[in-house]
Amino acid sequence: MLQTGTQKSNPPMLKDTLESGCRTIDEALQRLLPADSAYPQSIHRAMRHSVFAGGKRIRPILCMEAARAVSRNAALPEGIEELGSALEMLHTYSLVHDDLPALDNDDLRRGQPTCHKVFGEATAILAGDALQTYAYEVLSRLRCPAEARVRIIEEISRGTGTIAGMIGGQVIDLESEHQKPDATVLEYIHRAKTGALITASLVSGGLYAGGTEDEIDRLRDFGRAIGLAFQIVDDVLDVTQSSEQLGKTAGKDTASDKATYPALFGVDESIRRADELVASANEALKPFGDRAETLKQLANFLVQRKK
Ligand code: IPE
Ligand code: IPE
Ligand code: MG
Ligand code: MG
Ligand code: MG
Repeated sequence: MLQTGTQKSNPPMLKDTLESGCRTIDEALQRLLPADSAYPQSIHRAMRHSVFAGGKRIRPILCMEAARAVSRNAALPEGIEELGSALEMLHTYSLVHDDLPALDNDDLRRGQPTCHKVFGEATAILAGDALQTYAYEVLSRLRCPAEARVRIIEEISRGTGTIAGMIGGQVIDLESEHQKPDATVLEYIHRAKTGALITASLVSGGLYAGGTEDEIDRLRDFGRAIGLAFQIVDDVLDVTQSSEQLGKTAGKDTASDKATYPALFGVDESIRRADELVASANEALKPFGDRAETLKQLANFLVQRKK
């Protein structure tokens, strides 16, 4: 981690994975999303503004690498970038809504003014809704066996839903502002608001590639651990980095009196927990052998990242 002075530089293979993953997903999103010029233009411009403002594309990359890990020839299954794009649309929808005045009330996202700042609140709400419904249209057309397609849709809708999913986590996140942080509630918030979609990304990639039940279970265990670690690190970055570095408002959690890991445990203990989670995540992938190398590198990257 950045604060310990033991940070390793990223291995070259990881750099390629991140760059080519981003490229693949950006190309697919460009192709899939309605053009700015399509009527009604305002909603399509708002959707594209938030999707193409930047973003690490971590969820689609995890999805694609999970698929690669289960396929014996290490190739990406054809059409998986459409699954990855749907995940990125759902993630972007969650960011557009998270930034709204009624939720976190943020002006800056991915280094750009937030969707509601540019297009107004009503259009931003509808752009989030539209990214969500369009994601499911894309999922309904996935080029994999119908049974896998239905399981993928179930996984993703559950991961973004109210029972231990993204929306449930967002609800408790908001209700916990200005409350004394409690470790059990905090873990629930982080697993649900962020961990659940990250887990669904890995599981859906495994399902798309025809993974065995044991492989799917292991991807789920890996996802649960790195998903929680990812949000712990997001909390840490909020207090250790600048807005310029993050592309979103730094210090926002403290200002809003959010329930966060650094608020409850301090920065060092939060980092220790994230590192421990990554170690346990990587352990879950042991039976994959060498095929899990990239996923393990991605897990390490997620806790070492600076934005
Ligand atoms: C930010 O997610 C919101 C959280 C769930 C913590 P990312 O850190 O993946 O944001 P982008 O997609 O790179 O902008
Ligand atoms: C966001 O958590 C989680 C979702 C968008 C579902 P945060 O509120 O911590 O995300 P940032 O820090 O604004 O990106
Ligand atoms: Mg939030
Ligand atoms: Mg926020
Ligand atoms: Mg945050």
